[in-house]
Amino acid sequence: MYNALSLKQCGVVVDENKKSFQMHGHAKIILFGEHAVVYGRHAIAAAIKQGSYASAQLSTKPSCLHIRSWDRIVDCNEESELGFAFRALLQACQVGEQNIHIDVDVDVPGGFGLGCSASMGVAITRAIYSVFDRPLDYETTLACALVWERVFHGSPSGIDVTAATLGTSFIFQRNKPIQPLTLLEPLELAIVSTGHSSSTKKMVEDVARQHAQTPQMVECIFDDIDTLSLKAVDALQAGRWTEIGTLMDLNHALLSSLMLSTETLEQACHIARNAGALGAKLTGAGGGGCAIALAPGCSQTVVEAWRSVGLYGFTTKISI
Ligand code: PMV
Repeated sequence: MYNALSLKQCGVVVDENKKSFQMHGHAKIILFGEHAVVYGRHAIAAAIKQGSYASAQLSTKPSCLHIRSWDRIVDCNEESELGFAFRALLQACQVGEQNIHIDVDVDVPGGFGLGCSASMGVAITRAIYSVFDRPLDYETTLACALVWERVFHGSPSGIDVTAATLGTSFIFQRNKPIQPLTLLEPLELAIVSTGHSSSTKKMVEDVARQHAQTPQMVECIFDDIDTLSLKAVDALQAGRWTEIGTLMDLNHALLSSLMLSTETLEQACHIARNAGALGAKLTGAGGGGCAIALAPGCSQTVVEAWRSVGLYGFTTKISI
């Protein structure tokens, strides 16, 4: 966990030209347990190196957020989700009457289950604290980024902002302390985009509707997902790859039973398994977004198999 470090000591890249600090927030994948985690079950998440970088400067003009990668300037009075989120974050960070200009670069797409908004919330929070040179601890980072995240996600479990803040792999349960996950060996994965974005808020609401209609059945599915997540913790710590792959396939099947999969997600998982992956599943909210495949020694082959049908993917290694 973080202690109350000065942000300048804490994973910061100094931009000498602008004399400001580039603050990072990690993107993430969910290895096991999405959706069930909203209902108190365990989930396993891992930060990836991609995410958001933000820098902040005091300004004479009204506060604004420039998301350079999207060519989007968000005015602090703007009536949009981004405008609401920005205002809420400025308030949570106790910016007060000060005007602040924030630049953000992001290298993951929004709405694809990779934790783009959480990574931005964390990077912006860090940038704001850095401009005032105020110390920022782990809990405050989470609390501020959650205020931002709630505008986009309704009632998020907090798994995304935790990953964005920690930058590691961990076992997550809502409102419980985080347990770090120690992997025996780095996890070689391939990640693919379906090309269709989806709204996490809407997908979480869809599951809530099913839960309201058939609570016992949906609770059983969540319990089964929880069992898979806990088995996966053991398997990941011991490096039992084949078992982890099977558990991923089973987790995907349970998520499909909640109608969270799509034709493209099914196709992506199928192609990955045929190309040698030990298992594959959707990651994040589903209904589009991304899938992940466990592909030790063959992640590039899986990415090429996806490319042959027009799906864009990339490889990653999770080492902590
Ligand atoms: O932000 P996403 O799309 O990766 O979804 C986060 C995971 C969910 O379990 C679907 C929602 C949540 O808040 O935990």
